[in-house]
Amino acid sequence: MTRTFDEQFWDERYGGKSPVWSGKPNPHLVAEIAQLETTSTTVLKTALDVGCGEGADSVWLAGRGWQVTGIDISQVALQRAQNHSAQLLLQGAIIWEQHDLLQWTPPTSFFGLVSIQFMHLPRTHRERVYARLAAAVAIGGTLLIVGHSVSDALAGARRPDNPELFFTANESAAALEPTRWRVEIAESRPRLEKGYDGGTITVHDEVMRAVRLA
Ligand SMILES: C[S@@+](CC[C@H](N)C(=O)[O-])C[C@H]1O[C@@H](n2cnc3c(N)ncnc32)[C@H](O)[C@@H]1O
Repeated sequence: MTRTFDEQFWDERYGGKSPVWSGKPNPHLVAEIAQLETTSTTVLKTALDVGCGEGADSVWLAGRGWQVTGIDISQVALQRAQNHSAQLLLQGAIIWEQHDLLQWTPPTSFFGLVSIQFMHLPRTHRERVYARLAAAVAIGGTLLIVGHSVSDALAGARRPDNPELFFTANESAAALEPTRWRVEIAESRPRLEKGYDGGTITVHDEVMRAVRLA
């Protein structure tokens, strides 16, 4: 039976004593924003961190002067994220909101950056949800989508046992209307991770960054 990754699942996942994630920003976010900030003269510094979890990406962006909206289905995760930002005195720069992406429509043409990091939804939901998230990017703004590669499970990584949750960077790029988007990056990047047996394995992240033209 396929597991349902709903609010209850995620609240339980975040309900333990220890943090679920590292507390550090995702490396592809750091690399792509650094690239963006050095190559663009004007960057609209409003960001939507989709499925923000414990908030490390939102906090990192806020620390660089971005006004961030971090959204997640899990109120437990959002409480952790809020505590993290309060400790760093960054509360004013981040709005934390609970939304279920399957129901929520973000404001249209609003954000300078929409960042979707490791948000794995079934294909039928993903196409609809990602189209709404792409529409939330302002003209001139950036859409950044990062996901695990479907090949990671075969390499020995801990991943959900459902291949349809995964997508390639090229699939993310192909979903964008070419007259309205310029795809800057669409590639599979290797990274080292601890596998099921505790050994170090090579996994791949699917990274797509595009700029909205119209
Ligand atoms: C794999 S975690 C990634 C967290 C964070 N982006 C990161 O990279 O560390 C996926 C996140 O998406 C959230 N999520 C899952 N389904 C969601 C939905 N339907 N609506 C909003 N958030 C959802 C989960 O609560 C979880 O925090």
